[in-house]
Amino acid sequence: MDPHVLVLVHGATGGTGRLLVDRLLADGHQVRAFVRDPDKGAPLAKRGAEVVPGDLTDPDATALTDATRGVDAVAFCAGSGASTGKDMTLLVDLHGAVRTIDAAVEAGADRYVMLSSMAADDPLGSSEAMAPYLAAKHAADRVLAASGLRWMVVRPGALTDDPPTDQVRTGTPRIARAERGDRSISRADVAAVMAASLEADATGVTFEVLSGDRPVAEAVADLAAGSA
Ligand SMILES: NC(=O)c1ccc[n+]([C@@H]2O[C@H](COP(=O)([O-])OP(=O)(O)OC[C@H]3O[C@@H](n4cnc5c(N)ncnc54)[C@H](OP(=O)(O)O)[C@@H]3O)[C@@H](O)[C@H]2O)c1
Repeated sequence: MDPHVLVLVHGATGGTGRLLVDRLLADGHQVRAFVRDPDKGAPLAKRGAEVVPGDLTDPDATALTDATRGVDAVAFCAGSGASTGKDMTLLVDLHGAVRTIDAAVEAGADRYVMLSSMAADDPLGSSEAMAPYLAAKHAADRVLAASGLRWMVVRPGALTDDPPTDQVRTGTPRIARAERGDRSISRADVAAVMAASLEADATGVTFEVLSGDRPVAEAVADLAAGSA
């Protein structure tokens, strides 16, 4: 991705999304943040992002369509969260994500990076509690792969608020069971991986990511080198 492109971030007020916004701004990109709570959007605007109001569950798609117009890339970091029910899993993690993909296609965006989840390729192999969420992620990832956009799907393990380490391990499409160890990664490191994935000249790459011992830039460059 060229410097100074316009990136639309979904979930920009969330734990990972906020860090991605900061990272993209620091890298010289323009950021448009799609935000449902204006109070939460204010700090992002202060830091230099363009904040546009909208909700992924709004039956009227006008706000989403307008927000996506003219963007070069889309990053999806939104999520229904653990405190909502399966209805929101369906409406945000699946249908909301699909709507953002459709909007990106319609707007002629160049690329899309999806923040998915580890184990999204095998939802029914997971716990009963996690299966609906992973099924939603799985389906959204498949829609993105068929969209015609240039895309990467980032599948992290459990997210923490630990400080950045810039050290990760990746597996395409999965990290081997024996190598998983501690299945966590900080949101800061995930934001760095998302930013590097947006900047990579690659498409068609789905990978799991955990904290590890390889610099983010090196790990993502290797993934990009093996891409379509
Ligand atoms: N938590 C984990 O361990 C884990 C593991 C793997 C993958 N993930 C995935 O990683 C991503 C980021 O997770 P996170 O924990 O950093 O996120 P988070 O802090 O839970 O933030 C979620 C974001 O989504 C936004 N959002 C929720 N519903 C929305 C709606 N209807 N319309 C528009 N925006 C909406 C929230 O807005 P508000 O600020 O207004 O609420 C917030 O900005 C998610 O896709 C999640 O599924 C999480």
